[in-house]
Amino acid sequence: MEIIAKRKDKVICRDGDKLIKMFDENYSKSDILNEAINQARVAETGLRIPRFREVTVVGGKSAIVMDYIEGETLAALMEKYPEKRGEFLRMFVSIQRDVHSRKHLLLTKYIDKLKMKILSSELSASTRYDLSMRLDGMRRHTHVLHGDFLPSNVILASDGPYILDWSHASQGNSTADAVKSYLLFRLSGADGFAEDYLDEFNLQAGGSREYAMEWVPLIAAAQLARATDPVKKAKLLQWTVEE
Ligand SMILES: Nc1ncnc2c1ncn2[C@@H]1O[C@H](COP(=O)(O)OP(=O)(O)O)[C@@H](O)[C@H]1O
Ligand SMILES: [Mg+2]
Repeated sequence: MEIIAKRKDKVICRDGDKLIKMFDENYSKSDILNEAINQARVAETGLRIPRFREVTVVGGKSAIVMDYIEGETLAALMEKYPEKRGEFLRMFVSIQRDVHSRKHLLLTKYIDKLKMKILSSELSASTRYDLSMRLDGMRRHTHVLHGDFLPSNVILASDGPYILDWSHASQGNSTADAVKSYLLFRLSGADGFAEDYLDEFNLQAGGSREYAMEWVPLIAAAQLARATDPVKKAKLLQWTVEE
């Protein structure tokens, strides 16, 4: 078995044609099963994603087993060919739009997830109340949302792109999913790329920056619930209150 990536609470390995995601003992079992069921559900929409094989135990650790996809991630390709960054960005957005064109009625509703996180955040009671009222006012949509759509979660294989990492999948408003990606880029310090990304998304989706900005405080507030890094926390707090 070859280790592909190590995270603080999981290890991602390759074993021949299989990709094995192994989780630490203290990783929430319901989160592991939720990631697996999201992957199984999203496969039913016809999107090209690694085929789910099984949830099992490897060396005492819970693991999700899926097909290994041969190729490079869009993140690696953007790094390797900076002159083609614009081309990769357009491809990245059009793949995300393909995700948004799908439906699966059993996926969790993004609004519900946001609300739960906002209500469990450390924000003041009045801010939590205000944000949850604003969420209630947003129009309901049922598009498949990836929730962590980043270039490291897309692999370009010889037969085309595959989309990975469905742990945050849900259904809802596609602009909200774009704003999630936008904020993840900004949180990682890639502000210039974040703006180029949002412009490209709005261009392809026919959306406006103003409308996208309505989602910023809602999504930033929800992210606060899991943020531990003080610099990221400060940014999220600022985005929660400034808009
Ligand atoms: N099915 C797969 N085939 C090939 N590589 C994969 C596959 N799944 C994950 N990877 C590689 O491992 C990395 C991390 O996996 P990912 O599922 O995105 O975990 P994380 O939740 O840590 O981001 C990916 O960016 C990709 O490089
Ligand atoms: Mg990932």
